[in-house]
Amino acid sequence: MSKRVTRSSKPLRLAIIGTGGISNTHLRHLAPLADRVQIVALADIKPKAMAQRIEDHKLGDVPQFTDYRKLLRQINPDAVDICTPNGLHAPVSIDSSRAGCHVLVEKPMAMNATEAKAMIAAAKKARRKLIVGFQYRYDPRTQMIRKAFDQGALGTIHFARVQALRRRGIPNWGVFGRKELQGGGPMIDIGVHALEMCHYAMGAPRPVAAMGQTFTYLGDKPSKTASRWPNWDYKTYTVEDLAVGHIRFADGAVLHIESSFAAHHQHEDLIDFQLMGSKGGASFADGTIYNDQFDHQVNVKADWLGPTDFHSHFANKMRLAVDHFLGREPNGAPGEHGLMVQQMLDAIYASADKGGREVAIKA
Ligand SMILES: NC(=O)c1ccc[n+]([C@@H]2O[C@H](COP(=O)([O-])OP(=O)(O)OC[C@H]3O[C@@H](n4cnc5c(N)ncnc54)[C@H](O)[C@@H]3O)[C@@H](O)[C@H]2O)c1
Repeated sequence: MSKRVTRSSKPLRLAIIGTGGISNTHLRHLAPLADRVQIVALADIKPKAMAQRIEDHKLGDVPQFTDYRKLLRQINPDAVDICTPNGLHAPVSIDSSRAGCHVLVEKPMAMNATEAKAMIAAAKKARRKLIVGFQYRYDPRTQMIRKAFDQGALGTIHFARVQALRRRGIPNWGVFGRKELQGGGPMIDIGVHALEMCHYAMGAPRPVAAMGQTFTYLGDKPSKTASRWPNWDYKTYTVEDLAVGHIRFADGAVLHIESSFAAHHQHEDLIDFQLMGSKGGASFADGTIYNDQFDHQVNVKADWLGPTDFHSHFANKMRLAVDHFLGREPNGAPGEHGLMVQQMLDAIYASADKGGREVAIKA
């Protein structure tokens, strides 16, 4: 991350919009950045959710709003951190850009690529920054694989295999089972994590077409089997349990993705990808590069990777977003990357609606 940037010495005035589950993690990792970021307001339609965050993070008398537009008008923050359900990412992001704020928006960037394009356009027009809340790209294993790709150690990438698999992990909170509010199920909710990091590690090639299929067989029925999140709302469940997709890229590479909230396989919870290129391959979960050296097939593994857990990802994501807004770091997850990921997700779902026929992705 060496690009030249203009620095600001004033602390960033940041507002959080949507103070449910994930905002807790955001606030936890904003706390150590108190020297350069100040939480200036919260917005949520549920006052209880805001009260809980204030108590958890000792935010004192921070102003609270049940209408985020009022917050934008009255507080005029430098930046907003959008942690609402997916269906609100685009309207809140566009309104915030228009109000002159930089935007950090949780994943997935939006419900679909049309919304993502409008978010990018609004930020550009307002000359404000837009960063997507992807976090797996900051994992040291992803960074190592991307460096290997950049330095030519993998050659031309031919094939990527991507997995975001839960055996029985249908969220029993929020609106994750409601297609009209979320855009889809596991593919858009957790598939997006594995897809964004793999796509980043491959050098962000342009997707040109995709095929996909989705299957629902458990989530729309009452939970019977013991599991970590039982009693999901099966009556409003309109998303898939399992989705598979096949994506083609302009450079000739192909990517296969599997994503499930519920499926009969050996993985309790897996986020992984593998790359196979002309000179080398890589595995995220094993943090290994595979190639030929010294007349032998060699596995290259870092002796010391650094932390790879969820909270370390978040610590990086929040620090890099704040520092990007302050002009100290370039954008690690620009809207344009979010858009390409969204185009792939859209095409997988569109293909599934057409019985699995290939769907073109226009640039
Ligand atoms: N990066 C990650 O690892 C990660 C993990 C979990 C969730 N997420 C993403 O974060 C987002 C929120 O997920 P969550 O688990 O926190 O959901 P949640 O349901 O716990 O929280 C969402 C909050 O948004 C509030 N909200 C709804 N409408 C609003 C409005 N008009 N204005 C302001 N607030 C409003 C809700 O009342 C709720 O408190 C989703 O997009 C999800 O995909 C990301």
